[in-house]
Amino acid sequence: MYIISPSILSADFSNLQKDVKSAIEGGARFLHIDVMDGRFVPNITIGLPVVRSLRKAFSDIVFDTHLMIVEPEEYVKEFAEAGADIITFHVEATPHIDRTINFIKEQGIKAGIAFNPTTPLDYLEYITSVDLVLIMTVNPGFGGQKFIPTMHEKIKRAREIIDRKGWNAYLEVDGGIYAENIQKVAMDGANVFAAGNAVFGKESPKEGVEELLDKLNE
Ligand code: DX5
Ligand code: ZN
Repeated sequence: MYIISPSILSADFSNLQKDVKSAIEGGARFLHIDVMDGRFVPNITIGLPVVRSLRKAFSDIVFDTHLMIVEPEEYVKEFAEAGADIITFHVEATPHIDRTINFIKEQGIKAGIAFNPTTPLDYLEYITSVDLVLIMTVNPGFGGQKFIPTMHEKIKRAREIIDRKGWNAYLEVDGGIYAENIQKVAMDGANVFAAGNAVFGKESPKEGVEELLDKLNE
């Protein structure tokens, strides 16, 4: 089963509720929330108040919270309380990967780990289990970038590892996902697709999501 996770980074922030509603009508089951601190990545985006407000407006959709911040462990509790259902942090951003995974799970939510394009997947070998693996298919920091072609191989390797470990984990891809390449990335083994520009860059986010889902069901 495939899940589209529209990235609100590309939404119209003055009409956020309207844009998100439209994406949900198109069939989005996750909402991808990119939190950036200007340190781990060269951009600053949104934080806790936005997550809290969105949670009030949308009670059902899964908040797929992507922390691109240093020392993510410092903010796990706050994001969980604000309404995150999944918290994904970058393995490069903390010296305590296992501890942070456990800490997220202790909040009663799902834990994900993210890898920058050139960060090796070896960390996965030593992890007891994780609920989501996110492969960055662009360098994190901005929406609207081009998918890095060498990531196809990496997604396949991540799929192999998840299956070998027997984890019941999502494999999410993030960056440069469009109707033109989503099928290929699904063939590589991904099943959650963060998509910013391909959804919110459209006149109608609903149609953006529908177009991606149609490709996956072809
Ligand atoms: C990039 C973010 C992505 C981004 C994706 O650092 O993590 O989630 O918003 O945007 P698109 O789909 O436009 O590449
Ligand atoms: Zn993201």
